[in-house]
Amino acid sequence: MWFKKKIEKKGSGYFTEEWMNKWKENINRSKNYNNYGKSWNAPIILKITHPVSASLREKEIIGIFLDLKYGNCEEVRYAESKDEPKSDVILKADEKTWIRLMEKNGDPTKLIMLGRISLEKGSLVLLSTQRKAAMELMLAAPKPSGENIYEEKEKTVETKNSHKRSSFKTTSKGLDHDSYPMRLFQKAKQFGVWNPSEINLATDIEQWKKLTNEEQGIIHHLTSLFLAGEEAVTSDLLPLIKVISNEGRLEDEIYLTSFLWEEAKHVEFFSMYNQNVFNGIPDAEKFHKPFYKIVFYEKLPFALSSLDKDPSAVNLLKASITYNMIVEGTLAETGYAAFYNMLEERNLLPGLREGINKLKQDESRHIAYGLFLINRILDENPDLQETARDELTTLLDDATNIIHEIFEPYDEIPFNLDKEWFLNYAIKQFQMRVNKLGLNV
Ligand SMILES: [Fe+2]
Ligand SMILES: [Fe+2]
Repeated sequence: MWFKKKIEKKGSGYFTEEWMNKWKENINRSKNYNNYGKSWNAPIILKITHPVSASLREKEIIGIFLDLKYGNCEEVRYAESKDEPKSDVILKADEKTWIRLMEKNGDPTKLIMLGRISLEKGSLVLLSTQRKAAMELMLAAPKPSGENIYEEKEKTVETKNSHKRSSFKTTSKGLDHDSYPMRLFQKAKQFGVWNPSEINLATDIEQWKKLTNEEQGIIHHLTSLFLAGEEAVTSDLLPLIKVISNEGRLEDEIYLTSFLWEEAKHVEFFSMYNQNVFNGIPDAEKFHKPFYKIVFYEKLPFALSSLDKDPSAVNLLKASITYNMIVEGTLAETGYAAFYNMLEERNLLPGLREGINKLKQDESRHIAYGLFLINRILDENPDLQETARDELTTLLDDATNIIHEIFEPYDEIPFNLDKEWFLNYAIKQFQMRVNKLGLNV
């Protein structure tokens, strides 16, 4: 109500002739819109219900008409009913919703999905392919309140797009050696320099031959999951590093060089072990069951590769939750515990245990970085807390389904492993990290 009164009294500054001219000018100046909107060639109407601003209360005006052509804007003016047939898309919301969306540089597609903007005409599928272009339009909308974030963003974008530097961090502000990523980097140099090919596997080769078929079977099973899992995290990480680098976070990027290097060594370790001790796991992919495939064949690569197309905070959050919280923090940690329970008591396969101990140390830094990154995203975007909770809950389901799926084929699990123990362990690891994030899931 206060909002309505304020607009009626002072005028919002939105939707005036001057405002529309400025919007058109901004759209045409936006290199990002020129780029993301280049496949769009159609006029659209933003219908405004419950108009409060005096400029909109004229009888014929139904909203704003934008004529968008291949990344440029030909016209922004008041829309009238006679414009409706020639417009391919008509979106409808009240004035307050439109203003808030523009003020916050929000995501129109998301509001359509949530039902806060109704799609009177046009295809939602088609619009969802224009999500980034639509967000750039909101960014380009002038902000009469004076906080013209568009100007700020435009400057950053120009620097990035031009591939020119304005300065170097080390010669201007200086590297922050006390920052958390740099402290992790120090640890990585101290503890992460182990060499998988130097681990002695002679005892493992001898002991392996003496294990029963069932014992060999479950070790093959778990190793097959780790082989593919480590390969997946190595192959999929790069888009996240690129986003961090593009954000100019040099300390983070320095740490992430060790992160990817360590994942590569984990692939090397399991691969060498497989070749030298097992002589190859026969038909290794038969162990990849449907729930495992959902996470490692679909959700993980999707979450990370989405950053290539849209490096937004929400996508970065989802990528880190999938990668650091679930794949590393819940599934891998539980897998290490399985190896420990099988091998430690009987002093079996010392080379495998040594490699996994080293790997665990590396992973603890990876997970710590993930928590740091998620915390930062949520601090800067408190409105994403709900998304984080939803994502965590869905993925925890996937993780527990994978654990059920692993033990399902065994009437009696070799090494006396207990499925319930692993489920509890996984949930405990997950809950511990979620508590550190201050999220109640
Ligand atoms: Fe790893
Ligand atoms: Fe990792």
